[in-house]
Amino acid sequence: MKTVWIATGNPHKTEEFAAMLGDDVQVKTLKDLKEEPEITEDGTSFEENALIKARALHAIVHEPVMSDDSGLEVDALDKAPGIYSARFMGEDTDYTAKNNAILDAIKDKKGEERSARFVCAIAWIEEDGTEHVYRGTMEGYINDSIKGDHGFGYDPIFYYSPFGTTSADVDPEVKNSASHRHNALVQLEKDWSK
Ligand code: IMP
Repeated sequence: MKTVWIATGNPHKTEEFAAMLGDDVQVKTLKDLKEEPEITEDGTSFEENALIKARALHAIVHEPVMSDDSGLEVDALDKAPGIYSARFMGEDTDYTAKNNAILDAIKDKKGEERSARFVCAIAWIEEDGTEHVYRGTMEGYINDSIKGDHGFGYDPIFYYSPFGTTSADVDPEVKNSASHRHNALVQLEKDWSK
């Protein structure tokens, strides 16, 4: 059976990759290593950070590796928090505070000025070291208030027009079928199944 490593300890991300790879692939993660490597995500783009994580794991396991890096870009804030989405205002700050800070920072912006997107870069390194990177996005707007109880992170302030509401205000399956991660995974899947 083929093994693919996912450079994450996050079970939700692992599940999404495993579903795409199917039953005949054994999925392993950082949790399956004797010791988790210290990985410094010091890239300047989602793509670089995804590759940094994948390369660090590939150097240890020498088997196929996949990883992702994602975040929210708010155009009126020069694409912040961007690659710093998880670290914005501190890793331990709750998302109600982070979301309120973004709402406050762009409170004077109207309509198109509130454009934003979720971005996900996925890296895949084959066993022989061949590298691939894919980018998926979900284009939307910053809502004028926090809305919805589903999802995580910035979902309660992310208005997605096809939903007519925020990505926290729809069932998770609905959100996942349109998400930036899904859109990047679809591209990876095409190459993977070649
Ligand atoms: P990562 O785990 O390094 O990719 O960090 C992603 C961060 O971006 C998360 O901690 C969230 O703050 C944010 N983020 C990424 N994708 C989403 C999403 O689908 N909804 C809400 N927030 C997201």
